[in-house]
Order: sequence, then structure tokens, then C-alpha cells
Amino acid sequence: QWAAVPQGPPDAILGLVDAFNKDSNPQKVSLSVGAYRDDAGKPFVLPSVKEAELRVVQSGMNKEYAGIGGVVDFTNLARMFAFGKSSDALRNNRVGTVQTLSGTGACRVVGDFYAKFLGKMAPIYLPDPSWGNHANIFRDSGLDVRKYRYWDSSTLGLNLNGMLEDLKAAPDGSAVLLHACAHNPTGVDPTKEQWAAICDVLKARKGKLAIFFDSAYQGFASGDAEADAYAIRLFVDEGLDFSLAQSFAKNFGLYGERVGLLSFVCRDEDEAKRIESQLKIIIRPMYSNPPVHGARIVSAVLSDPELEAKWRAECKGMADRIIDMRNALKSELEKAGSTKDWSHVTSQIGMFCFSGMTKEQVGRLREEFSIYLTGDGRISMAGLTSSNIAYVANAIHEVTK
Ligand code: LMR
Repeated sequence: QWAAVPQGPPDAILGLVDAFNKDSNPQKVSLSVGAYRDDAGKPFVLPSVKEAELRVVQSGMNKEYAGIGGVVDFTNLARMFAFGKSSDALRNNRVGTVQTLSGTGACRVVGDFYAKFLGKMAPIYLPDPSWGNHANIFRDSGLDVRKYRYWDSSTLGLNLNGMLEDLKAAPDGSAVLLHACAHNPTGVDPTKEQWAAICDVLKARKGKLAIFFDSAYQGFASGDAEADAYAIRLFVDEGLDFSLAQSFAKNFGLYGERVGLLSFVCRDEDEAKRIESQLKIIIRPMYSNPPVHGARIVSAVLSDPELEAKWRAECKGMADRIIDMRNALKSELEKAGSTKDWSHVTSQIGMFCFSGMTKEQVGRLREEFSIYLTGDGRISMAGLTSSNIAYVANAIHEVTK
């Protein structure tokens, strides 16, 4: 019956993890997926998260279904984490929220919502480049995936003018995706002044564009989750309505627990309620309701000021180790003899370095050195450790000289 079903290609990011696992070279290095590793190259469970999990287990909660919209304590605390404890939008109950299967799930639910209420094949504008999975998610939701200019390969920075022109020209009824912080894959975020300019342009579109923030790295850009919510809170203060995806995979290290959130900042409470009802109608036939365990862990952290302070310090510790690796990679490249300008390695932020290496150079790294990164030259900095950094720098020098 299925004889005609072809073999599909491996995923551009997760497929590399499979290939890495099969590689028998003892010197292999995985720099593909954005997952934090400690300096021994091991996955890291945050001590605050371990403690929260212990409390959840000891509290002896049952395993009943959450509501379609998720664990209510979690959704309340998690949106406060993004919008701020004194958020006017939250105080006025004008945020509609549902728990989702991490950030990917939030993107998919909002994509389906747009396809339903903006219309099938409504355009959605993604930064060029964006996270590799974004285009697939919104294509499968039935939207017309388009790009706005973002990365300027000549300056290795943001093409603000191109971005603003494209946002001005996007047809009414389109959606626009913005990375809230720690842009994936480039590691280049707008400055505060640039966010103000982006906000002005979107404000001038007078509600004719659906604005969508994807926030997968809150806490990872600067090491301070409050500072990383800058753009989100600016848009609320400026009176813009938008939707927001949050992931707790990276900042809480809860990758496999699939903990996320989708919120809509609305005109008023009535609109927020109507939207929430529609989000639940989308979720119910898709996966019924979200898992409870990870959501309870995040709630346990965010509801206890002491545990939250502990988490904040640990999150900063992860961000700081990545910054150390940026400095180390740059100096090891120089030590290896590279005369290229590697200043973007240290100026970019978040989990990734958009190295500028070509597909061919990335291919050589994999074939000759068993070093795995995505085809666009993105390096997941957390895969670097004090023991593999010289090996990686020498290999990068070898393929880029
Ligand atoms: C990444 O970009 O590597 C992460 O967001 C993980 C993923 O699911 O792709």
C-alpha cells in the first residue's frame, strides 16, 4: 500500500544529532542543535530545576489531565515571566494564554490560528534567515511563508533599513514574526533604538499586520531574563497587540518536557477570552491538552522567590559559560594562525554564532574532523568546552584559510 512513499530527507538540525551519534570518531564534536552543555560536554539539569522537581514529586499530585489550555498556575506565572510582574496588560486581563508543546507547539498553534482567521495562504514574514523549522511550521499551517531582510552579510549585522522597508511593504492581513531576543541563527538582535524604529513602523500599520514574537531564549541573550524581555515589554507599553510564543526548553533546561506558552495581547478582556476559546478549539483535535510535569516544575521555581533567585543565577551561569567560549574560540582561532576577522564571534549574542562559513566548509568540518554544525554555518556555542576548543579552532582555520 505504501510502496510509493519516498524516503524523506533528515531534518536540517535534528538529523545532524542522529548523524553525530552514529559517528565513531572519538574526537567528534556536536555543534548543531541549540542545547546547553556543561564544560565537560554533558547535558545540564539546573540544580534549581532538580529541587523544584523534587518538590513536585513529593507533593504527591495526581496525574489527571490538565485543561485544554494547560496548568493554570503555570500559565499565570509563565506569562508574568515574559510581560513583567507589574504588566498593565496582565493587570487588565487582556492577555489570552494557553500552554503549548514548547515553542514549536506555540508556533504551530498560532500558525493554525492565523490560517483560520487571517485566511488560508495568508502571508507570514520571517526574518531572513530564521530558525530552520519556522518555515516548515507555517507552511504546514497553510500560510504563505515569505521573508523580510534581516541579516546583512557585508556588515555581519542587522539590515535595519531593509527590514523596515519590507515591514512597511508587507500587504495588509499578513503576519510578521520577530525573534524576541538572541536571534536564531544569527545572534544579532536589534538595539533599543532599532527596536523603537521597528515598533514605530509596525504601529503605523495600525493593526493591519499580525505581530508575532517568538521568545525561545529569554535569559540566554544577556544572562538576565528581565533585560531579555525588553522588546516584548516595549511593544506592550507602546500599545501594540501581538502574540507571543515562549519556550522553557533552553532557559530552564527542560528540553524534553516540552514546556511552552502562547499568549495574545488583546484590546480588552472580552477579546482575550474569545481568542483563548479559539486557541482551545485548535488544540483539542491536535493533542487534546499539554503535559503537566514540566509545567509544574516551572511553576514551582517561579512561585518561590528563593528558588527563582537560584534559577536566575544558574541561567546567568549558562549564558556566561557561552560568552567564555566565544572569547576562547576567537583567541584559539588567532592562535591557530587565522588572520581572518573573527570579531563577530564575540559580538553576537545568545546560543549561536553565525560564523559566515560556507556550506562547503561546513561539509569539510564534518567529513574531515567529525565536527557537526548546520549547513548555514551556525555554531551552537554550548557544544564547545575547554577540552575541545583548540581542536575545533584548528579545524575551522584549516577549512577557512
Ligand atoms: C535549534 O535551533 O537548534 C533549537 O531550537 C532546537 C531545535 O528544535 O531545532
